[in-house]
Amino acid sequence: MLNKISKLRSEAETEIIRDQEELEAFRIKYLSKKGLFSVLFEDFRNVPSEQKKEIGRQLNILKQEIQEKYDLLKETLVKQEDTSTINDLTRPSFPFSLGSRHPISIVRKEIIDIFMRIGFIVSEGPEIEDDDHVFTRLNFAPEHPARDMQDTFYISRKSEEDSSPDDILLRTHTSSVQVRVMQKEKPPIRTISPGRVFRNEAISARAHCIFHQVEGLYIDENVSFADLKQTLLFFAREMFGKETKIRLRPSYFPFTEPSAEMDVSCRICGGKGCNVCKYTGWLEVLGCGMVHPNVLDACNIDSKKYTGFAFGMGIERVAMLKYQVNDLRLYFENDIRFLSQFKTSF
Ligand code: DAH
Repeated sequence: MLNKISKLRSEAETEIIRDQEELEAFRIKYLSKKGLFSVLFEDFRNVPSEQKKEIGRQLNILKQEIQEKYDLLKETLVKQEDTSTINDLTRPSFPFSLGSRHPISIVRKEIIDIFMRIGFIVSEGPEIEDDDHVFTRLNFAPEHPARDMQDTFYISRKSEEDSSPDDILLRTHTSSVQVRVMQKEKPPIRTISPGRVFRNEAISARAHCIFHQVEGLYIDENVSFADLKQTLLFFAREMFGKETKIRLRPSYFPFTEPSAEMDVSCRICGGKGCNVCKYTGWLEVLGCGMVHPNVLDACNIDSKKYTGFAFGMGIERVAMLKYQVNDLRLYFENDIRFLSQFKTSF
């Protein structure tokens, strides 16, 4: 019996194990229920009782040795496997799941891209503004209702009654960037200004206290209303499809004269009338007009020499028309189930 034990010991010691597969074969050969060690243990029954103590001890030592060899090999093989996967630079990378862009970011970029193709550059201004840039230089009368507390978030106000150009507020429109650009630069000016705006509104499906606008401004000698119309037609066709028609309705803004609102033909019914366009065939998209001479003069641009046009649109409004998502709040809730439906290649 002692002979068998030492034979098994030297056999187990000389086994060469290079990988997990060979290790498993080793385990089955020596340590499994039908393995060589169990066979040896069977023989133990026939050992005379006076030798049982010593032989039992030897058997236990051998079992422990084999088990230790197995454990040690297992540990080193696992480590080897780990490092070999790290060193294999051809392995595909860990599959990270990427998020998607917010629909407002997608539409914002699309609008910027369209105007950049016809020579507009992007300019930005501060969200915290003063009355001077948001209202006064844009030809708002001192008592204009837009200055009212109901519409504007004030950060500091000199006096409730009379508005001061020093009043600090959250901009209610991106037209304030027009003023900053005109004050800083000489014509020709061709710029668009995307950004967040703030209004003191109750939140509903159709209104929000924060939203996004893109302002456009073009100033040079001999800029005409025809230039405005052609630029907006180009935008509408790029944004909503080649078949899109536009119409301009007379309107009023303090900073433009004449002023207009632009509608695009309804892309759902192609202008025939449906519940999206409320059976009119048209959808309102933006406000525009020829920059008021008072505004040019207030921003140190000679209104005798230069003319220009301006326009302003809500990004949410364009997104609603594009995606047919008609509840503004969805754009702000950031519900992942909503957002993950918008996929882009950029
Ligand atoms: N600022 C206007 C608004 O917030 C939009 C607008 C209308 C901008 C006409 C313009 C414009 O530049 O010419 O409703």
